[in-house]
Amino acid sequence: MFNYAMADPEACEFITVASVDELPNGERLFIEIDDLALVVFNIAGEYFAIADLCSHDDGPLGDGEVDDHQVVCPRHGARFDVRTGKALTLPAVEDIPAYPVRVRAGEIEVGLPRE
Ligand code: FES
Repeated sequence: MFNYAMADPEACEFITVASVDELPNGERLFIEIDDLALVVFNIAGEYFAIADLCSHDDGPLGDGEVDDHQVVCPRHGARFDVRTGKALTLPAVEDIPAYPVRVRAGEIEVGLPRE
């Protein structure tokens, strides 16, 4: 687990997770890379990737309702900014990891910090 909210793109290795056709506007995609569970959102044509793990009680976060650029944890209602991983409301007080996303040649790539 990383101890910062948004990974520095310069320090990341980008991994293809899907084609843009596979993640239409308003949809989300759950992916696992090694033992890292991520959720990638398409919100109004922009892509955002966060850890699928709530910092409050380790619940899965990705099934939560999306409100603007916030995802609401389905368990106790904490909100996180999908752009930064920032915890916005109680009961969560710790940010979650967020990862840079880019599109190259129609492929969605998520940046994961190099070891
Ligand atoms: S597990 Fe997400 S708010 Fe409690």
